[in-house]
Amino acid sequence: MTADPINKKEYPFPTYLGSNDTLLSLLNKTSQILCQWFSDAEHLGPLPIDNNFKCSVPDEFGNSSEVLFSELENLIYSSFNPVHPGSLAHLDPPPLTISILGDLVAAGLNNNLLASELSPSISLLEETICKWFSKKLGFKDSAGGTAASGGTLSNLNALVAARNSAGLESDPNAVFLISEDAHSSFMKCSRIMGLYKNNIIKIKTDKNGSMDIFDLKLNIDKCYEEGKSIFCIVATLGTTIRGAIDPIEKISRICKEKKIWLHIDGSIGGIFAITKIPINGISNVNLANSITINPQKILGITKTSSILLVADIEVLKSTFATGLPYVSSDSNLLNRGEIGIQGSRPAEIIKLWLGLRFLGMQGIENILSTSIEKRKFFENNINKKKFDLYSGPLHIISFLPKGMTKNESDEWTLNKKINLMKNNYMLSRPVFKNKYLLRAVLGNYNTSENHINKLLELLNK
Ligand SMILES: Cc1ncc(COP(=O)(O)O)c(C=O)c1O
Repeated sequence: MTADPINKKEYPFPTYLGSNDTLLSLLNKTSQILCQWFSDAEHLGPLPIDNNFKCSVPDEFGNSSEVLFSELENLIYSSFNPVHPGSLAHLDPPPLTISILGDLVAAGLNNNLLASELSPSISLLEETICKWFSKKLGFKDSAGGTAASGGTLSNLNALVAARNSAGLESDPNAVFLISEDAHSSFMKCSRIMGLYKNNIIKIKTDKNGSMDIFDLKLNIDKCYEEGKSIFCIVATLGTTIRGAIDPIEKISRICKEKKIWLHIDGSIGGIFAITKIPINGISNVNLANSITINPQKILGITKTSSILLVADIEVLKSTFATGLPYVSSDSNLLNRGEIGIQGSRPAEIIKLWLGLRFLGMQGIENILSTSIEKRKFFENNINKKKFDLYSGPLHIISFLPKGMTKNESDEWTLNKKINLMKNNYMLSRPVFKNKYLLRAVLGNYNTSENHINKLLELLNK
């Protein structure tokens, strides 16, 4: 083949002429390495024991695919393996197979959710899936939403929209209220929004880890006495350490009365609300102005997959749209880079759509309800004379031997975590109310009752 006078050299971009054999063989090889790694999980464990991954950096002349495959293999075999049944530390379950394909297709299409002319079908798909979620949650037709790369960004989109809709975007005294067990992403959000620690009011939680309504009311009155305007109350649907749920209905009544935006951080528990699984505290989510849902955290939709739903899509438009002078716009089609913080955005909705379509409501409910059953099984069989338990109605449980001081909790959790890792169980070690705990997140579909029994043996003895 004669070299092009301008391009001079050939590089492996997909070709628009003939077949794409090179790409096909690279995809094949990559799939083989990846699948082999999945199959090796049993003896490799959740985390590589001797991590011998050496990072390489770009060099002058580039490298052959053989070199890259060997480096890629090294990278893969030095990674955390969510597929192992002992991977129970975090909200990072095994990837649902069909959603892996979604990521591949999104990369291949390389469309951009910034503008509908750059992603005509996918923009429509994202809108449709957001509408579907909204309907499932009981929102009206005015509702809609947007995908974002993770729960933090969805929460940030919500807070910015809430502050904007209250007309408080330039008020340094504007505050928002969260429970003391809400996720740390709200600290980050507030910094990005030019707010400080004083702009976040933390409300006490009760013995179940839910927001204390009495303390909420006290703090609202205090804010008004001090001349602070409240632009949002955040109710958490599934706290990070124990999966507790704030009293959504009661909070929503207060929000309605005081005309305050209610945001639900449903990063963990929001997905349960689209199902018929009976869970105490999950109802009336449609009373909120916005809700974050993060299917990457339990359904196994590959990271990242998060959506923010709002009761009124117009609020996202009025908050974020600036116009895109370099994009031709059809007035009937929404440029989805105009309804959130991110501009250029990958087609993350494809893997969510494929995952949901593949599972159907029965599959979704099955994955979610078995996770709860696993938590219940763990909770019923852990030695309750020995441990204090911190849990809620979802699939997360934290624990610590009774009566430990902070220092003792530090030492016990550290040693136990190492000991469990040697037995291929990876649990996390969060700090909660000034003590360390061990936490098991039982959302790994590969984890069986047998695995939980073995884990309990290691803990109970
Ligand atoms: C309750 C809750 N909200 C928000 C987040 C932030 O989500 P992400 O890590 O996807 O940004 C997390 C993360 O674990 C969480 O547990």
